[in-house]
Amino acid sequence: MDQTHRRLFALLGATDADIGLRRMLRRVRDTGFVPFEPEYALEAFYHLLGQGRLRPGARLLDLGAGTGNIVAVAAVAGLNADGIEIDKGLVYRARRKIKTLRSQGLLPAEVSTHVVWGNYLPQEYFTAHRKGESIASRYEDRPLPPRWRTHHGGDPYGTLGAEPSSFDSFFCYAWQQQVPSVCEFFSRYARPDAVLLCAAWDLPERHEEMLRKLGLEYTIDPYLDGERWRAEGSVRRLPIYEFRKTPQPNV
Ligand SMILES: C[S@@+](CC[C@H](N)C(=O)[O-])C[C@H]1O[C@@H](n2cnc3c(N)ncnc32)[C@H](O)[C@@H]1O
Repeated sequence: MDQTHRRLFALLGATDADIGLRRMLRRVRDTGFVPFEPEYALEAFYHLLGQGRLRPGARLLDLGAGTGNIVAVAAVAGLNADGIEIDKGLVYRARRKIKTLRSQGLLPAEVSTHVVWGNYLPQEYFTAHRKGESIASRYEDRPLPPRWRTHHGGDPYGTLGAEPSSFDSFFCYAWQQQVPSVCEFFSRYARPDAVLLCAAWDLPERHEEMLRKLGLEYTIDPYLDGERWRAEGSVRRLPIYEFRKTPQPNV
């Protein structure tokens, strides 16, 4: 880790320091916010860029951006990173954090980063869900809590001036019950060559059938399977699944 990275992680930690344990627990209950380890995410982005599985300057969307750590480290890795977050307080924090990082010269000038308020699942998705036209709904162990199913009139894609198909890649640190809807979102709205990086527990393995129906396949890179960190006794242990659309046979 070089000097810039040390400054980056110190600043990320410092700007969230006031969240504290009590507030954090409340957040977990209220909105499901728990930050993914930014160091692990940055390593993952560098690794995927190094392997050519992400393109420098590619456009990434963090689905549920929290306080903006993933957007920040993706930008540091040279990706044009945006985030959508349903909790307005977290959006405010993320924006403040990104502004601070920019003012300290920690983000490359050429990359753009925005965190906007709203639900990353389009309204149309919930309509399909209600009408029983959603594949994921048949595999959800538990329904999504109302706070994640509410739109409040926000149009985050409009605010970003983008569509889900505008993004090359997505990141999501999801709770177990969200993984089916995130996968279906990706299957329905992402473009054919997009990638979804999803840090999650073993849910994808339990949902092979659903993934087949959604036309998705996944890999877990040995470098990103969490084992390395588990072995070092760290809490950084989630695998990062890499979902892609199954190539359609030429007809
Ligand atoms: C586990 S946290 C991860 C935060 C961030 N990606 C990180 O790793 O630091 C998940 C976040 O997703 C947000 N969220 C959950 N469902 C959402 C939805 N449908 N639309 C927008 N944000 C959502 C929650 O409010 C929470 O902040």
